Amino acid sequence: MIRRGTAADPLRVGVLVSGSGSNLQALIDRFAEPASVVRIVAVASSRDGVRALARADEAGIEHGVFVRGADGAERDRRLGAWLDARGVELVVLAGYMGILTPGFLAGRVAINVHPSLLPAFPGAHAIEDALAHGARVTGVTVHLVDEGLDSGPIIVQDAVQIDQDDDAGSLAERIHGVEHRLLPETVLALAQDRIALDGRRVRLLPA
Ligand code: GRF
Repeated sequence: MIRRGTAADPLRVGVLVSGSGSNLQALIDRFAEPASVVRIVAVASSRDGVRALARADEAGIEHGVFVRGADGAERDRRLGAWLDARGVELVVLAGYMGILTPGFLAGRVAINVHPSLLPAFPGAHAIEDALAHGARVTGVTVHLVDEGLDSGPIIVQDAVQIDQDDDAGSLAERIHGVEHRLLPETVLALAQDRIALDGRRVRLLPA
């Protein structure tokens, strides 16, 4: 699906963010060693002034702001060109709020982390929606990005129990803990060429 990264020539990853960037931080920490087969080379935010940009700055990673104007396709063309100029081979959406245009996704591999067990509770309020629905189990999904809303093929999922005393804050804390493990694991599996796609079904090959 993607070029295999090596220590000598790591897979070049661009991370798209919109907020606090705790998932970005998990990726930065996971792939910090110089011998890593993954290198985060660019961070692009859809919002200015967010903590994720400060995290990129502290880690010495090139970063930029790409706010969506009236023409999303035009913004995505600028974003794509900026990532291409940095040799990005895999795009990781880590708390990125927005839908990428077909022109951006053509010829690119992108993955997203989502705080529910898709296809349940897509969209921007998945944690609150699962609670309000009265679900007893929710979780985390990492999936390939397609043109829809949280609709691409699922790569990995992990469940999180909803306790009867949970509120959005306590549930979010446990979900984020799972995200911070699953997202770097998935990026590593892609960099090791261990993910195969058969229609919508993803096969995860052993390490
Ligand atoms: C995460 O829960 C992610 O699943 C969702 O937005 C949140 C981003 O958190 N799409 P952070 O910016 O990585 O801290």
